[in-house]
Amino acid sequence: MRTKIIAGNWKMNKTVQEGIVLIEEILKSAGKLQHENLQIILAPPFPLLGMASALTSDYRFISISAQNCYYKNNGAFTGEVSPAMIKSTGANHVIIGHSERRMYFHEDNSLLSEKIKVALQNGLTPVYCCGETLSERNEASHYDIIKNQLEETIFSLDEEEIIKIVIAYEPVWAIGTGVNATPEQAQEMHRFIRTQVALKFKDDIAEKIPILYGGSVKPENAYSLFSCTDIDGGLIGGASLNSNDFVAIINSMVEILRKK
Ligand code: 13P
Repeated sequence: MRTKIIAGNWKMNKTVQEGIVLIEEILKSAGKLQHENLQIILAPPFPLLGMASALTSDYRFISISAQNCYYKNNGAFTGEVSPAMIKSTGANHVIIGHSERRMYFHEDNSLLSEKIKVALQNGLTPVYCCGETLSERNEASHYDIIKNQLEETIFSLDEEEIIKIVIAYEPVWAIGTGVNATPEQAQEMHRFIRTQVALKFKDDIAEKIPILYGGSVKPENAYSLFSCTDIDGGLIGGASLNSNDFVAIINSMVEILRKK
């Protein structure tokens, strides 16, 4: 069975002190959130990575992720953070290509490709985000957009590298809007992504890669989304900032796993 993943992307929220409170609240429920096929990822802002890694170091099923990285190992790049620095905090993952990075910081597929390569070289697992805007979906170009976002980035990896990637499908129109993709819409796109991976690489590689859904996942819709065959978990924004909501979302996945 593919590893199931529930990841919380805190975006630019929480101070160190607030982050400690949130993680301690989540850890109170740690006992009931465990399942051998489930990985929980917390992605706080850079200044919280060391603290988050230290607080969760006894919990092997919890990993820490950065939300971004630069594509160089070190040097005169004021304000940037390298994958090696992220790794040195104890974090193991890095989100790359989030639509907010593409939109507000003009990150394109060629830059994202560089970031993915350097992240992998430094032992970080990239959580690569793709997703279409509302107008692209309305124009029915969403499949072409996603295909292009895959082809110009992770499809240049070799087999040993692609197998280490986690993909997150995050339709831009569903992020922070309260309007999630329906389970049918999400499943359809996840199936499409998996098929593209199979066509480019091999069927067994496509079967192993976790594809997460992101965009207004809440305790109310998590179960129906995560029940879909090709949805291997979620990348949660707003609801990951509230421990009750985040724990409830993780519990939906645990419930599904226990029925299998
Ligand atoms: P929301 O869950 O707030 O819609 O955010 C999704 C997201 O962007 C996660 O990366």
